[in-house]
Amino acid sequence: MNDPRLQGRVLKRVALSADQIAQRVRELGEEVCAAYPEGDLLVLGLLKGSFIFVSDLVRQVRRPLQVDFLVVSSYGNETVSSGHVRLVYDPQAELTGRHILLVEDIVDSGRTLSRVIEVLEERQPASIEVCALLDKHHATHLKHPARFVGFDAPDEFLVGYGLDHAENFRHLPYIASLE
Ligand code: IMP
Ligand code: MG
Repeated sequence: MNDPRLQGRVLKRVALSADQIAQRVRELGEEVCAAYPEGDLLVLGLLKGSFIFVSDLVRQVRRPLQVDFLVVSSYGNETVSSGHVRLVYDPQAELTGRHILLVEDIVDSGRTLSRVIEVLEERQPASIEVCALLDKHHATHLKHPARFVGFDAPDEFLVGYGLDHAENFRHLPYIASLE
């Protein structure tokens, strides 16, 4: 694929086009809206991978809400999960008694989510639900499976729309698999 954003790297294929993503994010926004009829809602994005997804998603949720982020350590330069998850940035927002929608780019083993939810539950929120753009369906015994899922992910390493490989390719407007 001849895309000047790729620094000469070759993509195997585009798995999801920008239009496909936009369409599904609109639907997810409606699903989220319908699931939280009224009252408080705090959308918590997991950085960095969810930054584009969160910004598109919240603009499709037609109800009051607030946005914050948290940062956990990621894969680094590897393309497989090491299982190590560390909270690097704590949300500033008060979490006690809040309805939290945790937004994740992609669920692979589910370790990141499980760990983050454990930490968040200590703050005693009113509820925690997960919205994931992509789900690889490798996570078997999650206490909190994602309630909202954009797409079933192919079993490939994906980049774009926030997803990185060694911090590259987050800015691709589509989602593609790496060669
Ligand atoms: P898990 O903890 O194994 O569920 O991994 C989830 C995290 O790993 C995600 O938040 C991503 O940052 C990263 N990840 C998993 N699969 C991919 C992929 O295909 N491309 C880019 N990042 C991925
Ligand atoms: Mg990542």
